Parts: sequence; C-alpha cells; structure tokens
Amino acid sequence: MSVTTNKKRRLITSALPYANGHIHLGHIAGAYLPADIYVRYLRSVGENVVWVCGSDEHGAAITLRAKKDKTTPQEIVDKYHVEMQEAFSGLDISFDHYSRTSSARHHKVAQDFFLKLLENGSFEVKTEEQYYDTEEDQFLADRYITGTCPKCEAENAYGDQCEKCGSTLSPTELINPKSTLSGSEPVLKPTTLWYLPMGRHEDWLKDYIEKGELDGAQHHDAKAWKSHVIGQCKSWIDGGLQSRAMTRDLKWGVPVPVEGAEGKVLYVWLDAPIGYITSTMEWAEKNGEDWRDWWQNPDTELLHFIGKDNIVFHCIIFPILLKEHGDYILPHQVPANEFMNLEGDKISTSRNWAVWVKEYCGENPDGSDVMRYVLASIMPEQRDSEFTWTDFRDRVNNELADVLGNFVNRVLVLTRKYYEGVVPNAPSDDALSKVDKKVLASLTEAPGKIADLIERHRYREAQLEAMNVARLGNKYLTEEEPWKLMKTDPARVETIMQIASQVVGNLGVLLEPFLPRTAEKISKAMGIAEKKWTDASTGIVAGGTKLGELPILFAKIDDEFLEEQVAKLGNNSSNTNPNIMPQKDPTTFDNFTQMDLRVATVTECVPVKKADKLLQLTLDTGLDVRTVVSGIAEHFKPEDVIGRRVVLLANLEPRKIRGVESQGMVLMATNADGGLRFITPEEGVNPGDVIS
Ligand code: MF3
Ligand code: ZN
Repeated sequence: MSVTTNKKRRLITSALPYANGHIHLGHIAGAYLPADIYVRYLRSVGENVVWVCGSDEHGAAITLRAKKDKTTPQEIVDKYHVEMQEAFSGLDISFDHYSRTSSARHHKVAQDFFLKLLENGSFEVKTEEQYYDTEEDQFLADRYITGTCPKCEAENAYGDQCEKCGSTLSPTELINPKSTLSGSEPVLKPTTLWYLPMGRHEDWLKDYIEKGELDGAQHHDAKAWKSHVIGQCKSWIDGGLQSRAMTRDLKWGVPVPVEGAEGKVLYVWLDAPIGYITSTMEWAEKNGEDWRDWWQNPDTELLHFIGKDNIVFHCIIFPILLKEHGDYILPHQVPANEFMNLEGDKISTSRNWAVWVKEYCGENPDGSDVMRYVLASIMPEQRDSEFTWTDFRDRVNNELADVLGNFVNRVLVLTRKYYEGVVPNAPSDDALSKVDKKVLASLTEAPGKIADLIERHRYREAQLEAMNVARLGNKYLTEEEPWKLMKTDPARVETIMQIASQVVGNLGVLLEPFLPRTAEKISKAMGIAEKKWTDASTGIVAGGTKLGELPILFAKIDDEFLEEQVAKLGNNSSNTNPNIMPQKDPTTFDNFTQMDLRVATVTECVPVKKADKLLQLTLDTGLDVRTVVSGIAEHFKPEDVIGRRVVLLANLEPRKIRGVESQGMVLMATNADGGLRFITPEEGVNPGDVIS
C-alpha cells in the first residue's frame, strides 16, 4: 500500500503554536513565512513536499490562560485553534495540513509512542519529592512555579527555565519558590515520574549535531546548519545532558497510558512534536498516501521550521525520542530563526506590544503580500532583527510601488499604447544590443540563483534577488527610453518591449514564493497559465500574446496609516480606556526600596543651550543643592517652574545631558494625551522629606 516514488520526499514542519493567544508578526517571521517561501518554491519546481502544522493545545500556557479568563482549557483551545488558522490564511500561509493536539487521534498516537519507549526501556521511573500547591491541589512544574534563579539571581524564573539568563532549571533548584496559581509557598510531596535519561545520548548527539553523522554514516551536511543553532545545541551538550521528566502531575494533557498513573499526563514537549506525526497521518489519509513514507523512510528529509526558543527541543530532545523509538528518521535540517523585535522593544503579548495578524488582515484585506515582503526583507535569519512601521512604509513605497509596481505597469501601459496590448514578436539574435543580451543573460541566471538561496534558507537574499529582476527591468526601460524612439526606430522599440515583457513574465514565476497574490496577478495579465519555476526563461511570454488587465499592484502607504499602526502598540485591548498605559511587568519590593525618592524645591531654572526640550533646574533637596536636567521645556517656561516643590529620584546615576551633569530625575505625570504635570506634594511636606 505504500506509495513509492523515485523522488526524494521532503517533510516540512512549522512549530505548533500554543493555542492560548493570537498570532503576531513575530510568529510569522520566525517559523511560518520562511517555511511558506520554501514550500511554495519546492511545489513550483515539482518536488515531493508536504508541510504540516497544527495547534499545540496542552501545557501550562493553555491552562494558565484558561484560569485567567475564568474558563476551561478546552474552550480556550477551541477558540484559538480557529482564530490562529484565520490569521495564517490571512497571510497566505499554505500548510498542507493543520491539526491539533487535543484530538482523540493525537492522544492515541502520542500514547502509543510513549508505550513503545516504555517497552524499549527508554525511561527511568523515579518516585521523588516535588513541589505541590495545597490550595490548588496540584503539583507544580514548569510555568506553574516561579522563584529566584539559582544561576543569575533573577526574580521570576520559571520552574523549567530562567528567561533572563536562559538556564534550564528544575523546580527544586529555584530559590524562594512560589506557586503561579495561588501565589502560595509550595510544599514537597512524593510522586512518580518517568524520566528520559538524556545523558545516555551525548555521544551520538555530538556527532549528529557537529558532524551531521548518524549511525556511522553521513546523515546531513552539518555545515548547512545555522551557526546559532549548532552553537545552542553544543552548549547544551557540553553542559552535560540532564535527565528530563517526560510526565507531569496535571489534569490537562495526554493521559499517561499506564495503569496506576491516573492524574498524570505526558510532558507537553513530548506530546507536541508527536503532533507533527499525527498531522502527517491525517494528511496522508486524506491524500491516499502512507504516512510511514514520510516519517520512516530514510529517503525522506525532515525539516523543522522554528523560533530560537525551540531549538533544544527539536535538535536534542525530539531526536532522542525518535531514536529511542527506533522506527523514525531524524531531522535533516532545523532552520531556526532568531527573534524579531518591534519598534525598539521585544514583542510582548501581555503588554500588547505586537502586531496582531488577524487584526492587520481584517483591516487590510489586500495587505498580505506587502506584509510578507517586509517580513521576508527583515527576517531574523542569523540574528535578531526589528520591525518598524516606518521601515514598512519605506519598503512598500520605495521598493514595491516605485520599482516593481511601476515597472510592471509601464510595460503593460506601453504595450497597450503601441501594440493594442499584443506582445511583439521576439527579435532575431543579431538585432540584440549588448544591453539586451545582458538583460536576457540575467533572466537566464535568476531562477538558479534564487533557488540556490532558498535551498540554503537564505530567504532575505533570495527575495532580494527576485526583486533585482524587477530593478533590472525598471532600469532597462528607463535607460532605453522606448517612448523617445517610437517615431524614429519602431523596430528597436519592438525589441525593447519584447524583452521587457519577458522580464515581467519571469516575475510572475519568481515572485510566487514571496508575493503569491502579486505573482498571480502578473502571470494572469501576461497569459502565463501555470507558474512552474522551470518555465522561467527568456521566452516565457510568446510574441502575439494578448495582455490582460492588471490593477495597480501596490498602493502607497501614507503617514496617517503609519500613525494609526504605531498608536495601537501598547494599548491593551482588555483595558476599557485605550489611552491608559498598561501596567508594566512586576518588580520587586527590593527594587522599589533601592530608589531614593524625596521632595525638593526648585530654586533656579534656565533653558539648556541648543536643546529645545530641556530645562536645567537647580534643586534644594534638603541634603544639598544640585542640578537636574529635565525634558519639559515644551510644556513649561522656566518662570513657571521656579519655586515649585517637586518629587525627585535622588539616587539615579548622574548622567551628562548636553554637557550638563544631571544628578537625579524630577518625576512627572504623563496624562493620556501626552500632557505633562508636576507631582506636587501636599502642604507641610518639605525638601528632604523621604517618600516611601
Ligand atoms: N508550542 C510551542 C511554542 O510555541 C512549539 C511547539 S513545537 C512542537 O513554543 F514541536 F512541539 F510541536
Ligand atoms: Zn537566570
């Protein structure tokens, strides 16, 4: 029953997103758009490829969200399972199949996998003391428990990881542990856990990661893996691989299929990657294929697209699980991306510092291609990158509209004007100028160049090469100036327009992985029915082809749009007043008491030279007389400030501002529309009084 083809199979996965919130641009730039470009390209060259994904519906992310929203985990995942798919399709993310891990089918697949490992002796069963929340009647692991990091002393490290220093932790290592659920101090209570002793696997993993070798043979090209991926894995392996518990004492998850294990579920990082397998099974069933060809045949290449926070799970833990099982192939490539920041800050769901895909697509139903273009241009392939709306505008206006849109439009308009929309016949070779030949040679080279970059997961450069085809066409037209030759040399104009049409036709094919909607519009207008990569050539548009209609490809972005987008950031939608700044992340009492806040009186105030925004204040603090520079000149005149009593952060490190040393900071209240006010103490509060 197995379908055998001679062609190499490629199974592509993208990280199963947690079904606990909306999809934002950071997700897309990390694990979905690069995979979509890759897969669209492979489909275009006719490769045998399947791309699976699905919702990750277990784990603390889900249950904590349900608790916060006062609902059940099932309701949460049902809601986001649908919403996330809407977001993906809004940006034309073209999975072959999208599954979910709370399904009965997946539970069965994950349990069978676990049982096989059990049978193979892959686990160590241990009964030991674990933290327990007596108020919530629940064992605490992973994100259910926080405390001080034993490595870097950061507060609020999680039971599985410190986000500050990146260390992997176990709950019992935390200093001053606290339950995330109730805030109470947990107690220790014995329970039984199934551990994966990863230390056993260090040797072969080292060869697999560093040399690309597996079972004594070459498995993949280790040099093709990104250095940050290898680096992270190496530092994990070099640090010694600890045993990791593969079960949890929780209600929500895949039940541990062992007698006497009631109330226990599989660790989410065991069940979730098995979700890739379940998703493939569902796809295979729908398509009359055998899923085993995709997971158990060594001729298949398995590629995981993920963000950098998922690297160890895909490059170390999942490979160990697959190897322990025995029947499976191992990942061939894990082209993990780093993080994309947003407008100068980390993307943060809780602070609403994110661009939500569903919202963007809802407001810009035709905005998919431009967003894909910008994200691919700044994709965090080798290092963190940053999305800003100004950059978005510039790229859309200067690159998409002015270069690509303008070029394609000019070719269509001129062909209509000169030849009633019919592409002239190809010139004979001896009619070609040096420049013509150069353009045609570039067209011949482009598909291979772009393909090579895509195959090496260099999507930024690949898109740039594809856009260079449009740049070349635009330049060709501008420099050859057919509109000036029409009267004197119509034969030359035919040649120019023929060649320009070939450039446009090629764009209809080469842009498809990046800008699918634009490519579709172009191909349709150019009479190209099937957009196969191999069709890209210097003769893709036959002479005599009647060109179709083409709407304006890209509208320019104005400043109003820009301002609207920026204004949305940080405004928490759960907040009734959209102008109130959301609460910042928690701080500690110690941090607070470190601050020396006191009352002071302004005795003098003068403007700071060559600085429109700054005033220089002299303050009587009760302790001393000192200088503070304050950015309030647009709101207050010096004479309005002299004599005021103010609140001063006195022990802020002194800082030189425009050549003046500022010894502290005067606290101001910022109201919703950006207005500034002093915080004035009540009568009877005097300079030197301490605020606490
Ligand atoms: N849900 C995880 C995350 O968002 C990713 C899971 S990937 C899988 O970080 F391999 F486990 F499926
Ligand atoms: Zn730490």
